[in-house]
Amino acid sequence: MMIKKIKNIILKKNKYKIVCLTAYSKNIAKILDKYVDIILVGDSLANVLYGHKNTHAITLENIIQHTQSVKKGTKKSLLVVDMPKGSYNNIKDAIKNSKFVMKKTKCDAVKLESNKKNFQIIKSLVKKRIPVMGHIGFTPQFKKKFRIEGQTKIETAKLLKEAKSIELAGAFSIVLECLSPQSARKITSQLNIPTIGIGSSSHCDGQILVTDDMLGFSGFYPKFVKKYVNLNRIIEKAVKKYTRDVKLNKFPTLTNFLNGSKLRKQTKNKK
Ligand code: KIV
Repeated sequence: MMIKKIKNIILKKNKYKIVCLTAYSKNIAKILDKYVDIILVGDSLANVLYGHKNTHAITLENIIQHTQSVKKGTKKSLLVVDMPKGSYNNIKDAIKNSKFVMKKTKCDAVKLESNKKNFQIIKSLVKKRIPVMGHIGFTPQFKKKFRIEGQTKIETAKLLKEAKSIELAGAFSIVLECLSPQSARKITSQLNIPTIGIGSSSHCDGQILVTDDMLGFSGFYPKFVKKYVNLNRIIEKAVKKYTRDVKLNKFPTLTNFLNGSKLRKQTKNKK
């Protein structure tokens, strides 16, 4: 099943756009799963959910716990897990930790940020039948300063070389984060595996965004994020209403009182 799902993602290249979003918990995953091809449990979890300055503080335990929750809401999408910084410094650790993550979460693949030196690591994981998604460009685990990469011919050539080596190592797809449109186009056209862009123009085989950003819930909205809804405003409105109701003794009303054993309202909607 896992291999079939990955094959289907690869087969989309040059035919259909690949749709990807992040999730950190079951309820969101359940909604995404109806529509997207790939759900990524990203280490952006660190900034978005835990309020850290960068992604570095995320541990294997954190990512496993959130993936176990996401897995409960995921039936059809490919479930990819970001390996935390420091968990794949060498071949031995990478294999041990990736196997552990896969066993504990039943995810389909792991994602490794490229530091230009992990060709052998990716190759070893693939040899152990651990599917790998690569990630180049702005890689927050290894780069501090945010900048758009691939703005010159020399830089584009370097990025292409890096992407090709990740493909050669056996990765089944690759995230291009914050690349110039020219380099995203060049890399996408020269690779056989699909490229998934974030802030890298439409010249990619697919797109990914951090779900909390596109829902207007994270407070982080760089130019490449399209806010599809302002969830912050919607939630605030509801919380304000609830506060007023409690203060004015308008909640709970008789309909919200518990009677006997019926803890939940009977609804026609399936769980
Ligand atoms: O951690 C993450 O959410 C990611 C995506 C932005 C690609 O790596």
